Amino acid sequence: MGSSALKNFRIMKLLLDDYYRKINYLRLSVTDRCNLRCRYCMPEEGVESIKHRDLLTYEEIRKVIEVFARNGISKIRLTGGEPLVRKGVVDLIKGIARIEGVTDLSLTTNGVLLKEYAGALAEAGLRRINVSLDTLQPDRFAYITRRDRFKEVWAGIEEALRHRLSPVKVNVVVMKGFNDDEIRDFARLSLTYPLHIRFIEFMPLGKGSDWDGKEIIPPSQIMEEIREIGELIPIGPQANDGPAKRYYIKGSKGEIGFISPISSHFCEQCNRLRLTPDGKIRTCLFSDAEIDLKGVLRTSGDGDDEKVEEVLYRALQAKPEGHRIGDRRFKKCQRGMHAIGG
Ligand code: GTP
Ligand code: 5AD
Ligand code: SF4
Repeated sequence: MGSSALKNFRIMKLLLDDYYRKINYLRLSVTDRCNLRCRYCMPEEGVESIKHRDLLTYEEIRKVIEVFARNGISKIRLTGGEPLVRKGVVDLIKGIARIEGVTDLSLTTNGVLLKEYAGALAEAGLRRINVSLDTLQPDRFAYITRRDRFKEVWAGIEEALRHRLSPVKVNVVVMKGFNDDEIRDFARLSLTYPLHIRFIEFMPLGKGSDWDGKEIIPPSQIMEEIREIGELIPIGPQANDGPAKRYYIKGSKGEIGFISPISSHFCEQCNRLRLTPDGKIRTCLFSDAEIDLKGVLRTSGDGDDEKVEEVLYRALQAKPEGHRIGDRRFKKCQRGMHAIGG
């Protein structure tokens, strides 16, 4: 074996949880602040933000990723709130891109600041980007997000394409009576742009949202609508795929995906842990059972990687088999989406 092959072999550690799922993905929420107020996520007046001193610092974040990457985490996604509102995030990305073992680095953004940042993000080492956009109609955008910023988001998407962040994925949370009349308009975008349009089922999360299951439109219904535009051809699963089931319309430049955590949950394939802005590991999006990492980082002193590793292995053991939506025992979690990052 050549020395570079040997190096790759050494960093490919396998992290398995108690259900033999391979865990290789960390979703890291860098801030709970956001420059939008989406109705399904935040109240108009916003929410009390995490205090600056309680946020993990960039040095702490880098340290966590270094230790996690040595142990088998290779895929990192930065989320928010809105990650681009935290000062210095481009430098953080530059730092993470250099960490050995990180082979997939991406970011989920609402796109408001993307026109300004796309070039710097690409230069910093970001390869791809996911943009949340629930409507293509400026007025409706202003209603859903309570901010009139559609133009900026669309310009941000175009700028990301120009800087060859690839792929650019567009996340559309579909809700009955809210934006379901735009399914075909979104699907048509994939004909002319190399965008991956992903239709996402609304999930009941946090204190602010009411769950009665009526908001959901199953993927079968969305597909039926899209087939009026053209045949939907499935794309087989590929390494590093997220939870989306992937398709494309014949002759299109982009893709169509379905993320359906409610109608067909993907817990058996779950490969992820989450880190909140205030330094708690969440082992499941829906579970408030959090493990404190910030306290460990701040009491164990510099260089005590073993303590960080211990938290990682505790989190693996604590990861539940799945969520219980639809079950009478299901309880909505307390932490809102803006402080988890999806
Ligand atoms: P890719 O690697 O690009 O496919 O990313 P992703 O789809 O994992 O990330 P993104 O941040 O774009 O999330 C898309 C949607 O999937 C959002 O609505 C997330 O809340 C949701 N999502 C991501 N991870 C999970 C998960 O573990 N469980 C559930 N139920 N939903 C998730
Ligand atoms: N259900 C499903 N997706 C959601 N997102 C935010 N809130 C919800 C919810 N309740 C999406 C955002 C973003 C991603 C991180 O999660 O649109 O694309
Ligand atoms: Fe909207 Fe995301 Fe901001 Fe919540 S965190 S208000 S979903 S953009």
